[in-house]
Amino acid sequence: MQILDGKKLSKKIETHVANEVKILKERCGCTPGLAVVLVGQDPASAAYVKMKKKACDRVGFYSVTHEMPENISQETIESTISMMNTNKSIDGILIQLPLPSQIDTTKILELVNPAKDVDGFHPFNVGRLTTGLDGFVPCTPLGVMELLAQYKIDVKGKNCVVVGASNIVGKPMASLLLNADATVEICHIFTDDLKKHTLNADIIFVGVGVINLIKEDMIKKDAIIIDIGINRDDDGKLVGDVDYANVSEKCSYITPVPGGVGPMTISMLLQNTLKAAQMNAKEKQ
Ligand code: GUN
Repeated sequence: MQILDGKKLSKKIETHVANEVKILKERCGCTPGLAVVLVGQDPASAAYVKMKKKACDRVGFYSVTHEMPENISQETIESTISMMNTNKSIDGILIQLPLPSQIDTTKILELVNPAKDVDGFHPFNVGRLTTGLDGFVPCTPLGVMELLAQYKIDVKGKNCVVVGASNIVGKPMASLLLNADATVEICHIFTDDLKKHTLNADIIFVGVGVINLIKEDMIKKDAIIIDIGINRDDDGKLVGDVDYANVSEKCSYITPVPGGVGPMTISMLLQNTLKAAQMNAKEKQ
């Protein structure tokens, strides 16, 4: 069994992004800028945003976080986004999800300028992804594809089973795999007999937030396991959705949690923000 080391690859990507930032600064004096909207006190969201901000600092981006109270109005978030859309020093906009229940999340995401949509959540970019056109791709599934590429794992013709059908992970993951000529099955909360599907998989992608969902008797020998889950166990330890101790004995490759997909998500956010800044720099010339 070989570990797919996302921590190592993300460091390599960060070095590349930092170099590109230097080049951009020299060429046009532009500094890539990321604006983040964080609503409420959810500790997980606050932790993610903190990690994203630190990553921005490491590569030389400008970043700003707009922290808003839980009881914020739809109009206030909307006017903040409108300001970011026109602010020339902001290349990327990220709305940390989930938003509180009084907020219409779809409307918020649709307001983000698609050219600054570094999370790839705007329907414009979702449509471009499903049609196989260039655009912004959600960071987590994009990071998974980079990790597979780094280890020369070609998904073409492979049976890929995606467990989880969220807009952030499962659906874009399935689109990327389909675009790369994989055979794709999407399983979700209503799937009957999950094991029947996972047993048939060459590669399993799981991100649903259920500890130990994928057990060793649910995978075929030498399958490749991509664990996109992030959970805390009873001891407060960070774990994924896969029974790592047992599954790692039977599979050929596996992503650890932490140190697998998580760091790749952050480096893809940097890569997407750099891409937005490079496109904006071209427009300015
Ligand atoms: N909440 C959970 N994952 C994500 C993510 O990748 N981006 C944003 N914006 N919010 C999230």
